[in-house]
Amino acid sequence: MPSPSTVPVEHGVNLRPYNSFGLPAVARNLVRVGGDADVRRVVDDARFGRAPKLVLGGGSNLVLTRDVTELVLKIEVMGRRVVDDGPRGTLVEFGAGENWHQAVAWTLDQGLPGLENLALIPGTMGASPVQNIGAYGLELADRFHSLDTVDLVTGRTVTLDKAMCHFGYRDSVFKQALAHRSVIMRVRLWLPRPWQPVLGYLDLQKKQQETGLHEPDARTIFDWVCEVRRGKLPDPLQVGNAGSFFKNPVVTPEQCRDIIGRDPHIVHYPLPDGRFKLAAGWLIDACGWKGKTIGRAGVYEKQALVLVNRGGATGAEVVTLARAIQESVYGRFGIRLEPEPVVV
Ligand code: EPU
Repeated sequence: MPSPSTVPVEHGVNLRPYNSFGLPAVARNLVRVGGDADVRRVVDDARFGRAPKLVLGGGSNLVLTRDVTELVLKIEVMGRRVVDDGPRGTLVEFGAGENWHQAVAWTLDQGLPGLENLALIPGTMGASPVQNIGAYGLELADRFHSLDTVDLVTGRTVTLDKAMCHFGYRDSVFKQALAHRSVIMRVRLWLPRPWQPVLGYLDLQKKQQETGLHEPDARTIFDWVCEVRRGKLPDPLQVGNAGSFFKNPVVTPEQCRDIIGRDPHIVHYPLPDGRFKLAAGWLIDACGWKGKTIGRAGVYEKQALVLVNRGGATGAEVVTLARAIQESVYGRFGIRLEPEPVVV
């Protein structure tokens, strides 16, 4: 019998239900993490303390190409609470295992606007800072306050503020220096008062024109974002996928001019630092990939940036398709697309 302080480990766990692509893979060893003490017990465990680990949140940004021999830490830290409510804003805290979209809906139910543009993003609260999730003109960093992690070497709980997280476009310290080093346990978000709607994104401006609502409330924006997303992104419960498969590439003005020379219609947005962001979906679409299939992996019909599981696909098939897309975009536009999900 294991002693009470021994980590309960599950063996041979089927990971298909735990990744939004629905890819087949088995975890040799899996530990469910409900609190900081669970991670500390793993760190102190002679069998697993120093072993490589894979932190698994909602599995919505993951491509599994093999069985997982690393110890899987399945994050199930729950809890939602208002920490502080004052005239300048509200501080809310969520357990890392909370579902992102339900957390957004909960804030609106509490009368706390500010996260509505990030409605319907799949995945968990704990995963949201890792890739600094963003959509419809807002990113996590705009509402982020701080988070607590447990260090996988020392077992200590450490709090990081916004500056320490080094947020960038779909990037953070958790993809860089702290990759494989820490487990996010709780995330705190700051919702400023007075609330200001974020309506700069083209799809939301179209909704304003269609409805004639020029001063929508947060609930209306939430509903609009849900409608726009449902219109062009597949529901992972129906069609396996991991959202955008590639990052939108950022290029210099010279590179942008070169690409416009290759195709004047290319969708590009100026960035504050003088560079340009290109729409990867447009590049892939222009190469004729929309709706195409290789093996059992395909390119979504309504959004070429999203790769989908057409039923029974393996991670290897998804990677083969992704490489073929990268080659053709590079061949035509000279741009190397960088995958967004973690490939294991
Ligand atoms: N486009 C095409 N063909 C396509 C897809 C897109 O021509 O098949 C064009 C669109 O017409 C549009 C432009 O590309 O002019 C951009 O498309 P869209 O507005 O759909 O946004 P995106 O750049 O493809 C990004 C995020 C999404 C986020 C949306 C809305 C990345 C990698 N993706 O997509 O995030 O929801 O903007 O803000 O930054 C995710 O990260 O998983 C994700 C879904």
